[in-house]
Amino acid sequence: MTAVGIDAIEIWTGKLKLDLAETFAPEKGEDPEKYTKGLGLHASSFPDAHEDIVTMGANAAKRLMDRKGLTPDDIGRIDVATESAFDNSKPVSTYIAGCLEQVYDGDFHHANKGERKFACIAGTQSLDDAYNWIKAGRNRGRSALVVATDTALYARGDPGEATQGAGAVAMLISEDPSLVELSTDQGYGSADETDFLKPNQQFPSVDGKRSMQVYLARMREALEDYESVAGASHPDDFAYIPFHTPFPGMVRKAGLLGYRHMIRNTTVEEELAEEIGLQPREEDYEDREAYEEAIRDHMDDLKSTAEYREWYGEVIEPTLSIARQVGNWYTGSVHIARASALKSAAEAGLDLADKRLLVGSYGSGAQAEIHAETVQDGWKDEIEQLNVDDQIDSRYDLSFEEYENVHDRHNHDKTIEMEDFTVPEEEFVFTGRGRMNERLYDYVA
Ligand code: CAA
Repeated sequence: MTAVGIDAIEIWTGKLKLDLAETFAPEKGEDPEKYTKGLGLHASSFPDAHEDIVTMGANAAKRLMDRKGLTPDDIGRIDVATESAFDNSKPVSTYIAGCLEQVYDGDFHHANKGERKFACIAGTQSLDDAYNWIKAGRNRGRSALVVATDTALYARGDPGEATQGAGAVAMLISEDPSLVELSTDQGYGSADETDFLKPNQQFPSVDGKRSMQVYLARMREALEDYESVAGASHPDDFAYIPFHTPFPGMVRKAGLLGYRHMIRNTTVEEELAEEIGLQPREEDYEDREAYEEAIRDHMDDLKSTAEYREWYGEVIEPTLSIARQVGNWYTGSVHIARASALKSAAEAGLDLADKRLLVGSYGSGAQAEIHAETVQDGWKDEIEQLNVDDQIDSRYDLSFEEYENVHDRHNHDKTIEMEDFTVPEEEFVFTGRGRMNERLYDYVA
């Protein structure tokens, strides 16, 4: 059976930076450690005046096509995952294809294009669609381009304002992939939830605390569904577990929940029992409330054990390094978590070929997907070509007043002229609107 998976990945961060500890916290009158330690975020990326979801997506895709030496004929499908779309009819993928056609010979007229929506999980759903398309034999030897691109902005003053971000991830899905092979081991947790939504409005309506509970509930449901296909999972089965990362503090909670679930009825639970007792079992408690309290106490003990801390440091912590610097990229978030992990392994000189990843994706509204991937032989060569650290370091560092202008500039209800903070070079830029209110783009050489 031919392996199908992610052959290459490229990342494009918004070119502006808001430092949460230095710039945001003082204006909010908050302790900087609420951001750096509590949420686990140091900075957020923002789009410059000439950037939006199309330019960021097209710039990531161009880096990927150049690096892989691709032409439009090599691509049979372009799916864009976003929850920041500006058009209810014309998909962002048509704009991105139009941008790319400005710089490559040939065109994408025979590529199937679409836009996927299910909050942050849409990027992973687009990978699934591409996998299915190739496995069904409908790709005619061509690859799929999946672009996850978002400007994750919240209303000014919303508690979510601390977790904003902007950037794009482009992924090439192919036969015989270099990076990871996707598998059919996959589970879902999905329910009609009202935790985070944008009913025809740009900025989300969010019930922040509830959204965190829903994330964990759906993720647990997805893990159980995954295990019904793949069998019981054990913490040692996976080199890394990249989760959707709205902010690293959320992943801290997901990692602990996953670990507790995976060690239940294993020798790890037995060994830890000497120190913290066995996990509470619901049948031993009179009511749900008493059981939940016992679970909370047990989790507090579990997270302090040396065994858990070591596992977390090896399997989860490396997935968070990019997110800490860029914030939430919604659809791209879980894919930068995977990239962070692989990048950290390459930097540490680890041999990851044939090792497995468990990927936990999530979208509000709400759905989680857990699936397994296997790292491929060419992973290191691929991942070493990312220049994401350089991009992160060269962002323009905004003052608070500049941040306020940038937020207004990207607010669809406002018309704010703003000078660019950075000089565009070898990238697509937004240039204005055409006669039918369509957005226009140019390539700056
Ligand atoms: N030092 C260290 N830690 C501190 C601290 C300090 N001085 N002050 C606070 N903290 C800790 C808090 O204890 C808390 O950690 P725990 O949850 O582990 O206790 C953490 O910092 C955050 O503090 P608060 O809970 O007080 O923060 P908040 O109420 O201002 O907002 C939030 C937090 C609700 C997540 C808010 O940022 C929000 O609404 N975010 C948007 C929604 C979101 O991201 N939800 C995540 C799940 S939904 C999803 O994943 C989809 C998506 O992408 C949006």
